[in-house]
Formats: sequence, C-alpha cells, structure tokens
Amino acid sequence: MDTNLDPIMSLRSDHEIVRGVLNNLEGYLKKIGASSSYSLRKNLINQLNEITAFIDKDLEIHFKKEEEALFPVLGNYIGLETGPIHVMLIEHKHSRELSEDFKKSIKDYQAGGNYKTVVSAGGSFASLLSEHIDKEDHILFNMADMHLTQDEKRNIMKKILAIK
Ligand SMILES: [Fe+2]
Ligand SMILES: [Fe+2]
Repeated sequence: MDTNLDPIMSLRSDHEIVRGVLNNLEGYLKKIGASSSYSLRKNLINQLNEITAFIDKDLEIHFKKEEEALFPVLGNYIGLETGPIHVMLIEHKHSRELSEDFKKSIKDYQAGGNYKTVVSAGGSFASLLSEHIDKEDHILFNMADMHLTQDEKRNIMKKILAIK
C-alpha cells in the first residue's frame, strides 16, 4: 500500500511535515533568544504567524484524522479509556493548550510584553509535540500495523481523506 492508500503511512508522512515545522520553530526561538537587536527580534516574532497558522489549520486536521478515523477503530483492539490511545488523547489536549499559550505570548509581546515568554511557551509546545509524534511513530502506529486488517485500513483511509 502506498501513502494514498495506507492510513498509517499517510499519518507518518504528516509527522514528517510536522517535524519540519517544529525544526523551523526551534530555529526561530533560538534566534529570538539570542538576538540583541530589538527590531530583528520583533521581525522574527512577527514571522511566527506562519507557524501558528500551520498549528491552527494543518496540525488540527492531523489530530482530527487520528481522533475521528484511526483511534475509534484501533481502540477496538487496544482500548480507548486506558492505555496508549488514552495517553495520546491527553497529549492532543495538552498540545492544544500549549499552542493557545504560545499564541497568547505572541499577542502579549506585540502589545508590549516580554519576548522571553514567547521563547519559553514556544519551546514547551515544540517539545511536547515532538515527543508526542515520536511516541506515535514508534509505538502506536506499530500497534496499528499489527492489528488493523486491510479492510479496516481502507475504511480509515476513506475517513481520513474526507477530513479537511
Ligand atoms: Fe497524535
Ligand atoms: Fe500524529
């Protein structure tokens, strides 16, 4: 099965894109923290809007693909209320909260606040999400590959393609 047919491959390839954005974010945060020029720092922080737009739109779609298409079916094998899916759902919630904090820190900065809050809020978000996708790639998705039938995968893929 290729990426267009296999839901697990498709979600793994979303993760590659997320990793790219997180690398980019971490690069920005480093530069913002190290910059001694106010105007350069301000410029860099303004450029974070592209990343927060990705978080609001693309990352949210990715979470929905997992929450609405993959987890309900995989949950029949490994449970939803406890175990790895439960942990992943808690982390999605945590990621959404940390991204709200991050966006708020940018707004506060633009209203005269401290850049250090942007750096720390962005860093907390990036490290949570990076650990989260590592866990999915190395643990949850391997479980999915082990349990899901071809039929189930086809149905999950159909649902994934309908999520926008
Ligand atoms: Fe996830
Ligand atoms: Fe994911």
